[in-house]
Amino acid sequence: MTDAPWWRDAVCYQVYVRSFADADGDGLGDLAGVRSRLPYLAGLGVDAVWLTPFYRSPQRDHGYDVADHRDVDGLFGTLADFDAMLGTAHELGLRVIIDIVPNHTSDDHAWFQEALAAGPGSAARDRYLFRNGRGRGGSLPPNNWRSVFGGPAWTRLPEGSDREWYLHLFDSTQPDLNWRNGEVVGEFESILRFWLDRGVDGFRIDVAHGLFKAAGLPDGTSRGLVTAFWNQPEVHHVYRRWHRVLAEYDGDRMAIAEAWAPDAEAMAQYIRRDELQQAFNFRWLEAAWSAAAFRRVIEETFAAVDPVGASPTWVLSNHDVVREVTRYGGGRQGLERSKAATLTMLAMPGSAYLYQGTELGLPQVDVPEEARQDPTWLRGGGTGRDGCRIPLPWSGSEPPYGFGPGAGVKTWLPLPASWAELSVAAQETDPASTLSFLRRALASRRRVLAGLGQQVRLPRGSPGVLVIEREPGFTCVLNCGSRSHRLGAYGDLLIASAHEDQVAGGVLPPDTAAWFTRPSAVPANLLSARLGRRTVNAHEKGGGPTDVFSTDL
Ligand code: GLC
Repeated sequence: MTDAPWWRDAVCYQVYVRSFADADGDGLGDLAGVRSRLPYLAGLGVDAVWLTPFYRSPQRDHGYDVADHRDVDGLFGTLADFDAMLGTAHELGLRVIIDIVPNHTSDDHAWFQEALAAGPGSAARDRYLFRNGRGRGGSLPPNNWRSVFGGPAWTRLPEGSDREWYLHLFDSTQPDLNWRNGEVVGEFESILRFWLDRGVDGFRIDVAHGLFKAAGLPDGTSRGLVTAFWNQPEVHHVYRRWHRVLAEYDGDRMAIAEAWAPDAEAMAQYIRRDELQQAFNFRWLEAAWSAAAFRRVIEETFAAVDPVGASPTWVLSNHDVVREVTRYGGGRQGLERSKAATLTMLAMPGSAYLYQGTELGLPQVDVPEEARQDPTWLRGGGTGRDGCRIPLPWSGSEPPYGFGPGAGVKTWLPLPASWAELSVAAQETDPASTLSFLRRALASRRRVLAGLGQQVRLPRGSPGVLVIEREPGFTCVLNCGSRSHRLGAYGDLLIASAHEDQVAGGVLPPDTAAWFTRPSAVPANLLSARLGRRTVNAHEKGGGPTDVFSTDL
């Protein structure tokens, strides 16, 4: 337990840099802003921060279109600002994970510009995926792939040029790299080293499952399309190499994959012992509000990660999905459910990723059409992600709520006029606020975590209620049902997501989770459960089968 790497049980807070804190007053968050608010994050009780891309970029996809991987965009500051931010984070005991975007570059990247100038068949073009079109005069795209952001995944070079097409699984300003090209492989290892040498603790790998496309770029059927460009077997060779790069450095440097895998087993492929340390477990985020659904996710997660010797991660939201308060129905109920789901995921072994604003209970915002910025919206590929990317409200009674130094600053996305009570300052001194709750939850987690085993038991109980047990004597109970649940004798109440008085009195209202400790109450035979999934006889009243999962590294 004591020699576990720092990331195994870390709580990592995702900073969406352009919406976190604005130091220079241009309405856009920046690295100096992040630095100034690091004490807030240390005080919140997280272990690490993950910063979304701050590299030089034309910002067509808000930084996920990188033009220079080794420089900071002027919008966000300078390399010196990055170093200062990293230094302060480390002084405060916070680890720093940065985003790396290997699937594509910006069309402003020197390599893409070189490829355009060099022409068909050149070495410069081979770093990307250029192809001739089909049909008369090559006027049709090389295959039928669709962009994740809407529209075709191919764009043709303009009239007056050689008229090849290039592949972009995202926006047309994000050409996909050719990972079968050795220069691409070498370049990204060099980029990793550039940031590792500066002292970063890890990387979040953007679109980690997309780097390789099926050989020959075949057409896909509506089902087969997905298999033609996601989760190709070759991608794992890259992560084995990255594993070795990370291992050259001290301090348990790590990487976490953003790999949208079809199931938990496919996710676990990315975290085999010689590959990456973590992969986002999006199944928690995708689960419906149901004890059975959460239970299934927990079972499938451990069943998938145990055999590869990895530990799980838990994610409830990020900058790409509708905020959890709104997903769970909005309003008071949505907030209570999101606090309960957060407390439940924090009860689990493994690492939890929290998206900025979760601690404030921010809802999704319906951004007015004229203020929309997201390329997925502009390309017609979805409802758009702007609504979960609104700048954080820090203080004050009107927008932009202390986001930057100036009162009248126009932020890149507008803050709603109704957010005064959600600001950090408003919540900080209120013991009943979401912020105070999360601080208490993280403090409780720190207090009990060191002593807890890496196994969970899921005793079967009342319908609508999820019970998670960890040794010695720790229980988390979540009520997803519509009626209050009479609690068993789980020991002392550590924390509840709401209604603490009722919970202390033995009743768990709907949409509530609570943690209990009962030192030395667990039968010794359970202590012997080791790696892998197995069933043991239940010992508590009700007595159905109990699943035991372990994630010992
Ligand atoms: C990832 C990012 C998302 C971005 C996309 C393309 O899914 O999380 O924000 O738009 O990759 O880089």
